[in-house]
Amino acid sequence: MKTLQLELTPEKREESLETAAKIIRCGGLVAMPTETVYGLAANALNEMAVESIFKAKGRPQDNPLIVHISGEEMLAPLVTRIPQAAKKCAENFWPGPFTMILPKSSVIPSVVSAGLNTVAVRLPSHPIARELIRRAGVPLAAPSANLSGSPSPTSAEHCVRDLNGRVDAILMGGNSEVGLESTVVSFVGSRPRLLRPGGITAEQLKEVIGEIEIDKAVLQEPEEGEAVASPGMKYKHYSPTARVIMVEGNSEDFVNFVNSKKDEGVFALCYKEDAGALDVPFLTYGSEADFAEQGANLFNALRKLDEIGCRICFAHAPKKGGIGLAVYNRLIRAAGFEVISL
Ligand code: TXA
Ligand code: MG
Repeated sequence: MKTLQLELTPEKREESLETAAKIIRCGGLVAMPTETVYGLAANALNEMAVESIFKAKGRPQDNPLIVHISGEEMLAPLVTRIPQAAKKCAENFWPGPFTMILPKSSVIPSVVSAGLNTVAVRLPSHPIARELIRRAGVPLAAPSANLSGSPSPTSAEHCVRDLNGRVDAILMGGNSEVGLESTVVSFVGSRPRLLRPGGITAEQLKEVIGEIEIDKAVLQEPEEGEAVASPGMKYKHYSPTARVIMVEGNSEDFVNFVNSKKDEGVFALCYKEDAGALDVPFLTYGSEADFAEQGANLFNALRKLDEIGCRICFAHAPKKGGIGLAVYNRLIRAAGFEVISL
């Protein structure tokens, strides 16, 4: 399959969006920019189109997809109930990096929800994503636009690398602003539960709806065969080919530890503040206290490790406050839960 690269320059924007919307209406696949990461979009109401998303990504069939809408009025037909807490969150966090799990209506094909009786819904803030949904005239099922298992794409170039020849088109937008996938909260149990941390923080959620349970899969490795609330959390994710080892400790201890491991193919993924004292090649992913910067850079840095010939990467563990919790959640998965505490 030839993959169209649809430019979004002011002159080409209109034509590219029309082409992309037409592809979606005909049951095809389009990679689109969003404020979190790029998504691989298809008509969520077209079973065959959704099936082809799983094929293009090599995604396990039991991992459900997020349905994207362009306005709050599109939510009601997709679900059977919207609890008060969900309404409050929609008011506060939509449009934006926030996904709600709600009881699904019969409009949603079961391939979208991987057979669950719930559906994940998000109203993105990115103008291109919203315009594509509006023009297609249907909600869009869209997982991250990467090959299953590799780091999520935060630029159009990442999508080209993973999906060229496997999808109909890629909308060539800029870098994703948040750089981490959306916060996922389930509203189907007795209390709202955070299934995946992201750009909307646990602290922000608490302010709006009071207490929120944090699912144990957010920070811990699921046991073999254990049922998880969010199927996506059980897979090894976000992984470069290089072996990533997460290292917890202060800057001085981190630097001394990594320098003692100096060898062919050994790299560090570190804070800007660590860089000066390191004696091994490194990539920085942000300043220690700037969680948003870390989030925006992490996936690009993980992809780069492979390009620069990294064999083993010691990654300085992020703090778990604010968006840092999401950065930590992704990095510990990239590391396959291999952690060294100094
Ligand atoms: O920011 C994002 O959320 C991006 C952009 C494209 O919107 N999308 C994204 O999709 O990250 P994906 O498929 O890579 O991750 C969706 C996550 C998975 O962990 C999946 O298991 C979970 O959401 N999920 C989807 N539907 C669910 C459901 N009904 N119940 C529980 N978890 C669900
Ligand atoms: Mg994904």
